[in-house]
Amino acid sequence: MITLDINKALGTITKEQVYAQACNADACNKALENKTGKGSDFLGWLHLPSSTTDAEIIDIQATANHLRSKCEIVVVIGIGGSYLGAKAVIDALSGSFDFLENKKPLIVYAGHLIGEDYLYELSNYLEKKSFGIINISKSGTTTEPALAFRILKKRLEEAVGKDEARKRIIAVTDKTRGALRTLATKEGYKTYVIPDDVGGRFSVLTPVGLLPIAVAGIDIKQLIAGAADMEKATGSDVKFENNPAEIYAAIRNEIYKSGKKIEILANFNPKLHYVSEWWKQLYGESEGKDNKGIFPASVDFTSDLHSMGQWIQEGERSIFETVISIATPQYTVEVPFDEQDLDGLNFMAGKRVDYVNKMAELGTQMAHVDGGVPNIRIELPELNACYLGQLLYFFEKACGISGYMSGVNPFNQPGVEAYKKNMFSLLNKPGY
Ligand code: PA5
Repeated sequence: MITLDINKALGTITKEQVYAQACNADACNKALENKTGKGSDFLGWLHLPSSTTDAEIIDIQATANHLRSKCEIVVVIGIGGSYLGAKAVIDALSGSFDFLENKKPLIVYAGHLIGEDYLYELSNYLEKKSFGIINISKSGTTTEPALAFRILKKRLEEAVGKDEARKRIIAVTDKTRGALRTLATKEGYKTYVIPDDVGGRFSVLTPVGLLPIAVAGIDIKQLIAGAADMEKATGSDVKFENNPAEIYAAIRNEIYKSGKKIEILANFNPKLHYVSEWWKQLYGESEGKDNKGIFPASVDFTSDLHSMGQWIQEGERSIFETVISIATPQYTVEVPFDEQDLDGLNFMAGKRVDYVNKMAELGTQMAHVDGGVPNIRIELPELNACYLGQLLYFFEKACGISGYMSGVNPFNQPGVEAYKKNMFSLLNKPGY
């Protein structure tokens, strides 16, 4: 199992303070599981890992294989919770240079931004490629993915004709509502349903995440199995001292109350960059409301020690950090001995590069703790689908508990409508 270590986060707050929150954390966990808290009609994600059937997995895998056999490139269209989970898992479990190796299919993303140059360059790139589209939108009305889909659907139909295009477009959307559902029914696309009671940022273990992840060749069964392990480990029947989600929720709320308003999620493996992006949406949209909430930020170490390191070490003392560490890397690279030793690195010759990275991690932890930055540490034995599944579910469960502990409804996002209203009015959309 992945593990959580809070020892280096104690100092500003005490262990007693954290454990004093045990009843509260447990009550919040029970409120989730008994559906008695705020936003309780959006709790379908809670038991997804233990309730996903083999038949569902086989069906998703079959669709993924169909796309893999037909397409050099699969464009995943979606924004926010409709793409970040898939990208997090795919980036974490793919080779760093796979994209240069004509590995089929290559997954690219669209609809996660509004960029004319991006869409031009993507359309251009797809011109002589065989490609397919997974169009993901729960509401089916979000501007960014709708815009990208309109452009890429046209490009695909022009390239292969309407009939073949239909076979290469998969829609993942609401069961009955929304423009994407209407379009999918009209065009006869294969579809997957995002359950009514699962919000976008909690949807990575539905077809929203599972289909693109399967297209990337990743074992979704292992991902779900890992998440199911964590579903068990974080249940409300598990005592506080053994329950990582309750402990994480409790400690981050205590640290926040002590005046540290920013949580920085750090990793020492660049493949986890998008896990942090996914986590930022999960916690930012869930907790940032009612004029409160920890601000979720992220860094990739050691790269960002050379850019953000100064601020973290000596800037305003308003931060704490949560570090994701991978115990064992997938491959072995040793530091070679060099006769001339002009770079002075022979003292580490014969050591693994990961050993150097681990010493950087330890040195950073010591420096940051000395500098007044509480340090929470999450360790994955290795980076694979199972442990990643555990990590995703751990963060989701802790997010629900943490949101309840801070008194907000973690399952709505009223604030994201404000810019949309202005944008539609400026664009003269009828009705705005
Ligand atoms: O978490 C959320 O609900 C949002 O961030 C959505 O994921 C995002 O806005 C995309 O919405 P939709 O899937 O409806 O296009």
